Amino acid sequence: MDEKWLKKLAAGQAVEEVQSGMVVGLGTGSTIYYALLKLGERIREGLKIVGIPTSEETEAIAAEQGIPLSTLAKHTAIDLTIDGADEVDANLDLIKGGRGALVREKIIAHASKRLVIVVDESKISKVLGANFSLPVEIVQFNWMATQRAIHPICGKSTLRGAGRKPFISDNGNYILDCHFGEIPHPAQTELQLNNIPGVVENGLFVNRADKVIIGTTSGIQIRTKGEVN
Ligand code: 5RP
Repeated sequence: MDEKWLKKLAAGQAVEEVQSGMVVGLGTGSTIYYALLKLGERIREGLKIVGIPTSEETEAIAAEQGIPLSTLAKHTAIDLTIDGADEVDANLDLIKGGRGALVREKIIAHASKRLVIVVDESKISKVLGANFSLPVEIVQFNWMATQRAIHPICGKSTLRGAGRKPFISDNGNYILDCHFGEIPHPAQTELQLNNIPGVVENGLFVNRADKVIIGTTSGIQIRTKGEVN
């Protein structure tokens, strides 16, 4: 089974949790793409929801699929958000931001009653940072000074897109991919990074996911907050 199929499997299972009347946070990425297709299908069959997108990319796909869209100005709470992740550890803490939408994703996650994460099995790791660099969104103004200030914490980082054209987030900012290696204390690291002037947000999502749905070659695995994983 290829990775796409595993993503589709996990995304399809998450969409089964969506019920008419819900305000649904719509994550970003190639796994969420399948959730958006499935939601579109269910809407054409009569499901009534409002979606709040976490990126311009998701907004465009959701609009194509006929998903009615809204904002947090109109809906102060989100019933359920479905989003992807780049890495998931045993506590269901996450690294996100591989597609550069981490700021909006964290805002939407924070406003959500439930956050369900959908991944294929390659995203599971014992310790965050082992397989994926941590994205940190920073303002463009004197960004090298921000990078220098980050280095005592993470050691080394790369400006996303450097050498070609720097990647610009939906919020007009740069992203540094920070090569920590393992991040043994993600809660502490999340706060430390956000305390540096110039840092807008980082991709550590600590204690936010309620459930992780994993597409594996032997079927779906579900991990929920509070259970021993
Ligand atoms: C975007 C994200 C994505 O959820 C994460 O990168 C996973 O993406 P994909 O499903 O394409 O592997 O955090 O900012």
